[in-house]
Parts: sequence; structure tokens; C-alpha cells
Amino acid sequence: MASGKSTLGRMAAHTLGYDFVDTDHEIELSAGMPISGIFASEGETGFRNRESALVAELSGRQRIVVATGGGMVVSPRLRALLKELGPCVGLTATPAEYARRLGPNAAARRPMLQGADLTQRIAVLLAERAPAYSDLHYTVDTSFDSPEILAQRLAHIVLAEQERLPVQTPGGGSYDIILGRGLIDQLGHMLAGRGWARRAAIITDEKVGPLYAAAAQRALGQGGLDSFVATMPAGEAAKHLRTVEDLYRALAQGGVDRNTPVIALGGGVVGDTAGFVAATYLRGLPFVQVPTSLLAMADSSIGGKVGVDTSFGKNLVGAFKQPELVVADLATLASLPAVERQCGLAEIVKAGLIDGGDAWARSRAIGETSPVTAPLLDAMRLKRRIVEEDPFEKDKRAWLNLGHTFGHGLEAWSDFRIKHGQAVALGLVCAVRASIALGLCNAALEGDILHALTVAGLPTALSELGLQLTPQDVDAVWTRMGSDKKRKGGSLRYVLLRAPGDPVVTDALTETDARAVLARL
Ligand SMILES: NC(=O)c1ccc[n+]([C@@H]2O[C@H](COP(=O)([O-])OP(=O)(O)OC[C@H]3O[C@@H](n4cnc5c(N)ncnc54)[C@H](O)[C@@H]3O)[C@@H](O)[C@H]2O)c1
Ligand SMILES: [Zn+2]
Repeated sequence: MASGKSTLGRMAAHTLGYDFVDTDHEIELSAGMPISGIFASEGETGFRNRESALVAELSGRQRIVVATGGGMVVSPRLRALLKELGPCVGLTATPAEYARRLGPNAAARRPMLQGADLTQRIAVLLAERAPAYSDLHYTVDTSFDSPEILAQRLAHIVLAEQERLPVQTPGGGSYDIILGRGLIDQLGHMLAGRGWARRAAIITDEKVGPLYAAAAQRALGQGGLDSFVATMPAGEAAKHLRTVEDLYRALAQGGVDRNTPVIALGGGVVGDTAGFVAATYLRGLPFVQVPTSLLAMADSSIGGKVGVDTSFGKNLVGAFKQPELVVADLATLASLPAVERQCGLAEIVKAGLIDGGDAWARSRAIGETSPVTAPLLDAMRLKRRIVEEDPFEKDKRAWLNLGHTFGHGLEAWSDFRIKHGQAVALGLVCAVRASIALGLCNAALEGDILHALTVAGLPTALSELGLQLTPQDVDAVWTRMGSDKKRKGGSLRYVLLRAPGDPVVTDALTETDARAVLARL
């Protein structure tokens, strides 16, 4: 309906150097008759069958921009097929703009527009279509900008998105993880049309905010969303209930309602804290993760675990809050300090060990300058698989805590001077040594893991961080490990390894053995 899809689609294809396909036109060509003729001879069913056959054919083609008839979007089956082809953009306009484009005689030509007031009829039609359009990947309002600008925007969407991983959630819902470059600039088009408030809250920290919040706000504005920014201090020490209260206050002052999305823009600390705020404020607000650290992309932004630390243990207060979307913009990694990249690699090496096979091979060879996209995707896929199978950590999800029981103890003992990723690296060293002590795995695995961590620039001994454990410190770490929430029925449970790809959850490690492993660090 006069959304400009053919003109804009053709212009975008030209900018990208892609082929352009107009499905209505293509179907008319292959049928040798106009659409009205197909409807007359084959009925609507015949026409829809031709549409699905065409989509199946298009799935075998690369580098194309496809403009579809509106009916294709409304049909759930065809919409699902279209969404597998690549990023799907819904073009919209205001009712008044549609009325202007259609002209005064529109109702005469289009029976569905007949009625007292054309603009009002259009508004009703748009409302009917809204649920289908809100299920697309992007929405672009074509009312206000020139075709040239709009075509550029479409081209940018196509270029930004590299991978999209749908994640199934417990209630039968799902959300997408999107990985690409320049995705923050598309946030507004991703969130527009979802039926949320026209206002969004961005929660970020004092380091990430100055780098990316303005771009996020600009992008939200392009999607018609007004936004405000609430900034928390950076670092693990801020992942605390006091920060949560400050953020509640900021949301109250920002005038949010139950429909206002909360966007976490930052690393795992921002994601965990903002997610907890989104889970609890007004009993729950829509939540979007925009992870900017490698660790948050690989791990913390996926799976819906959110929460904060307390003075008596890490991550003790929290919730399961599934995001509506995870937007991992690789461009943000350019500003990530080297040590934070290393921390992300710790979770990627951990994921490789849990996954085994090629993923372990890829994750153990990432040096300071190696491209990170392939092992990052491996880690994202592993996390997706595990959280889909065990969303509430009854079973397999515990595997993701490989290296974390020792790691959390060390992190807390150091008063968070040891970063989470560094603690995970040291925890992996402890976990493999414990596995060997219990006769679970081959002794050669220790060397492989130490090598992988060293290549990634991660510590394998406390001395590399200028720290050491006295016997009293071992007591202190042990106590912190004991206060970790993963203790079940009195005994501490560890995730250990039989081999890469073969993790095992056990409480067989004695306190004496665990202390001996710590003392070797
Ligand atoms: N919820 C989960 O399932 C889960 C899983 C793993 C880890 N975690 C949590 O994640 C946290 C660790 O995450 P993290 O390592 O991302 O910590 P973080 O959020 O503290 O980020 C690390 C540092 O990098 C900065 N930073 C982030 N992105 C940047 C960028 N693009 N450019 C410049 N600076 C940037 C941050 O400001 C911070 O100073 C821990 O609290 C851990 O418990 C949660
Ligand atoms: Zn972790």
C-alpha cells in the first residue's frame, strides 16, 4: 500500500550492488498474467502457493533485495520463511502520509479503503496489520525523509547485520541475538513498531556512556523513540543494590511506564544490573541487551540471568529476565581495553572447553590480534544451546560455571581487584588440576589449557597479577567459595572435565584437595 517498497528497494539494491526482486512482478512474469488474473483463475490460495515457491527459490540466492506484497507479511507462514532469508524491514508511514500518496481517488480504486474518511480507514488497516509488522526485524517510517536517505538507511541495515541467532525461551517465546558491525546505529529501527512506549531508558556506565550513548540516542530518535540515559559507575563494585536504587530513582524521574524498554548499554556489569532493574521496576519492563564487552557478548547478555552482588557473596540477588533482543555490535570492541578483551577470551576458552571439538580448537588459538568473530559465535551458539535446554539451571546450565566456583572465590577474596575474566582463567586452571587430582581427565589437558590461556594473554598463576595466597588467604578464598550460591545441600559442587566437550558436575572434590589446588596457584 504505497509504502515505497519498490522504489526504495531498487535504490537500496543499487547502492549495495545487489540484485532487486519484486515478488509481485516476478510472479506475474512466471505466470504470464497479471495478479488479478492469477486470483481469478487460481484463487488466493494459488497466489500464496506461488509466493511460497518463490521464497523457497530466493533462499538459494545471495546478494538480493526483495520487495514483497503486503499479504506475504501478514501470512505467518510466509513471514517466517521471509525472516529466514535475511533482515526483514517493514516500511510504514503515517495514515495522513499514506492518504496523500494514494491520492483523492484511492477509495474508488481500492475497495478495502472505501468508507467515510480515507485517513481513518487507513489507520484501521494499519492497526490490523500492526501485529504482523511488529514481528519483522526492523521498521522504517518513510513519512519524513527523502527516498535517498531512506534507501541509504536500508543499505546500512543490510550491511550491519552479520548473524542472527533466535533463542527459544521457557514460556514458548523467543528473542534474537544479532551480531554485526554498526548495529547500534540501527537500534531505533529494531525497536520501532514493537508496540512499546515511544520512550526508552538507556542504562550505561561512566566509561561506555560517553562513547556510545549519544549514538544510541540518535539511532533511537530515527526510530521515533525519545530516550534518556541513566549512568552508573563502571566496574564490579557498582553491581550492587545501592546502584539498583539509584537506577530506580532515575527511571522514576525519567517518567517510565510498564511499556518503556530498558536498554543495557555496556559490559556484563551493566547488563546484570540493568536487567535486574528491568525485572523488578514496576514488576517488569521490556529489556534489551546491547553488550559492548567481549565477555558480555560471549556470555552474560544471553540466557536471562540478571542480578547483583551483596557484601556476603557474588550474584546472590537476582532474577531470570529474558531480554527481548540482544544486539552485539562488534564495532564497540575497538574501544575495549586489552585486558577486558582478555577477560572475554576467558569465557570463550571456557565455552570451547565445554563444547569440545572444533570450537575448542578455535578458542585455544586466539592471540592478541586474532579475529574474534568465529570463536565468539561458537561461544554464543553454545550458550544458546545450553540455556534453551536448561533455562533455569536445573542441570546442564551449571556447566557454564566451569572455572567459576574457584573463580568467584578468588574474585571476592581479592575484593574484585582480580577481574571476572581473569578469575575465570585462574578458575579453569584450578578446575583442570582438580579434575586430574580426581583421575577424571588426562594430565596433558592441563598443558593445553595453560597454553590457550597464555596465548589469550590471560593469567595462569596469581603471581602474574602480583598476588599470592598465604595459608590464611587460602582459608579466605575457601570461605568465599563456600558462600557461593552454587553450594547444594551442604557440599560444594564443582564443574570439572573428563575431556574437552565432556564436563561433569561433582561434589567428590574434598576440601583438602580443593585447598591444595588453590595453594598451587
Ligand atoms: N548474567 C550472566 O549470565 C553472566 C555471565 C557471565 C558473567 N556475568 C557477569 O558479567 C560481569 C563481567 O562483565 P564484563 O567483563 O563485561 O564487566 P564490565 O561490565 O565491568 O566491563 C568491563 C570494563 O570494560 C568497560 N567497557 C565495556 N565495554 C567497553 C567498550 N566497548 N569500550 C570501552 N570500555 C568498555 C566497562 O566500563 C568496564 O570498565 C561480572 O559481574 C559477571 O558476574 C554474568
Ligand atoms: Zn563468568
